[in-house]
Amino acid sequence: MVVPESQEKMYYPPVELQRNAHVPDFNSYLVMYKKSLENPEAFWREVADEFFWKKPATGPMLQHNFDMTKGNIFVNCMEGAKTNMCYNVLDRHVKEGKLGEKVAYYWEGNSPDHHMTITYRQLLSHVCRCANVLKQMGVKRGDRVSIYLPMIPELIVTMLACARIGAVHSIVFAGFSSESLCERIMDAQSSVLVTADGVYRGEKLINLKQISDETPWESERDVWWDEVMRDSPDECEPEWMDAEDPLFILYTSGSTGKPKGVVHTVAGYLLYTSLTFRYVFDHHPDDVYWCTADIGWITGHSYITYGPLANGATSVLFEGLPVHPHVGRFWEIIEKYKVTKFYTAPTAIRLLMKYGQEPLRKYDLSSLRILGTVGEPINPEAWRWYHEVVGQGRCPVVDTFWQTETGGHVLTPLPAATPLKPGSATFPFFGVEPAILNEHGEELEGVTEGYLVFRKPWPGIMRTIYKNQELFENTYFRKFPGFYVTGDGCRRDKDGYYWITGRIDDMLNVSGHLMSTAEVEAALMLHQSVSEAAVVSRPHKVKGECLYCFVTLKDRKNSDQSAVFIFSVREKIGPIATPDFIQNAPALPKTRSGKIMRRILRQIARNEKDLGDLSTLADPKVVEVLFNQRSEAA
Ligand code: PRX
Repeated sequence: MVVPESQEKMYYPPVELQRNAHVPDFNSYLVMYKKSLENPEAFWREVADEFFWKKPATGPMLQHNFDMTKGNIFVNCMEGAKTNMCYNVLDRHVKEGKLGEKVAYYWEGNSPDHHMTITYRQLLSHVCRCANVLKQMGVKRGDRVSIYLPMIPELIVTMLACARIGAVHSIVFAGFSSESLCERIMDAQSSVLVTADGVYRGEKLINLKQISDETPWESERDVWWDEVMRDSPDECEPEWMDAEDPLFILYTSGSTGKPKGVVHTVAGYLLYTSLTFRYVFDHHPDDVYWCTADIGWITGHSYITYGPLANGATSVLFEGLPVHPHVGRFWEIIEKYKVTKFYTAPTAIRLLMKYGQEPLRKYDLSSLRILGTVGEPINPEAWRWYHEVVGQGRCPVVDTFWQTETGGHVLTPLPAATPLKPGSATFPFFGVEPAILNEHGEELEGVTEGYLVFRKPWPGIMRTIYKNQELFENTYFRKFPGFYVTGDGCRRDKDGYYWITGRIDDMLNVSGHLMSTAEVEAALMLHQSVSEAAVVSRPHKVKGECLYCFVTLKDRKNSDQSAVFIFSVREKIGPIATPDFIQNAPALPKTRSGKIMRRILRQIARNEKDLGDLSTLADPKVVEVLFNQRSEAA
């Protein structure tokens, strides 16, 4: 890796930021990076030293096997150590750090009239009461608790209460349908579900309790949060957990269509989310940090709850939408709380860009120091708008590449150290060793493009798929023995910068939400009049990618049922999976062995007429028919 000498426009870190930064220049990054790879033991031990350990580790900081031919895949961090996540992110600050009166969260509701402030001491007290409630309900160490809540403080309280008593939380994004929720509860075999009666998203009321349970209140089973919390004591001894005990399960889309329960564990996740938060956002005690993600996704787990709290940070917790009640809501909130670090998704930036600069001019954004993005590749145009209009040319943009599976950032700039190129996630974080492989698993050097893999674990990487170690090994380690396979394509340029090129499996990314074509196809197939369905992605100006569905009906004479199909996908998966296009297809292009040629469908969806070789198709005429009909759908 060298300091880039490039002709393209680079964005260098502002000197004011470098003065007081944790990693103040590129050379410091290189030195620390080298140490993290050459001596991971010393590097991670130093990180662990600031946390509380009921019992110290007896084993090394990290052990692993990434080679299936040599035995089971495993990662083990700090064997023998005992600790508690909740103690480290709350009690430690209140009792040892004197941060009791510091604001943990400024909660801002869907309506600007609803807001509240929660200090570290208040949060600890709520968490202990909730922990006692869960215990009283019979929840024990290792039991699973499903959480289906909107972005309200109770969500953070519940997750930390689970962590305190050693229960494993499984949060389900509150935009998912009842079927998706049900599937996740069943897989995790949760004994308790924590939900809300309802929530407003913009103008729309979502009845979460009704979605959770079509039957009304059951007095034998259900209890009201306020009633049980009121009577619950506010002290609760933390459960001292083994370093490798599970902390949570979070479901992510699998390419077969069935969601996978990604498991993260206590000690490694604590070290990694804490360190990435500190360095990637160059955190300082007087910062006000705001991540706009939902806690139902990994971004919220790592960078709204655990990473910020581990650092004693003050965060904004936002329940609402970027455009409600007006399109300047984000900018209004930044001004209101004097936000210094702001972390959002490219899809939100592209949405807000559409309204031009006018909505921003009304607000004072001079508090901002660092901007971040996550979830999907950011196009350079959106990057520049973010940098110039939102950050007023003053704030570095950290484009953080990572996954539910990685637990925290793996490729990312450090704001005071890394010269930026719009659209590149730049370089690996400490302890992370990327490689680019070709189809045969050969490592490619220099300027190249191929499969993005990682050679070694870092403390925050997933440990397994819940109750399915075999699927875990097959999904991430079978293709290239010795490497963790991300499923993303990647390019490395002449300056050593990494550029994510998108998924190379049957997954797609709609507004930063990863989903598999198979799960949408399965949802369509559930409809009785559908005989076959194939789903591909198509570029979309705001969402990045959108869903284009080809549907073959059992009875060809049936009239257009697009609206019905769209509705059934929303019912089955949730509104995030709403198809943008449904094309009625009399037949699908298939090979002679019957395999659907997705490449061709993708080209039809994108109206790319140069289809290349069609000789492997059983019936090439189908393609022409689909092209001719296309205008009706698109
Ligand atoms: O394809 C990559 C894309 O999002 C995928 C991971 O999705 P998920 O597990 O839902 O986690 C999203 C939040 C971390 C990746 O495999 N992705 C994520 N961040 C970026 C990205 N693609 C390009 N650039 C990014 N910064």
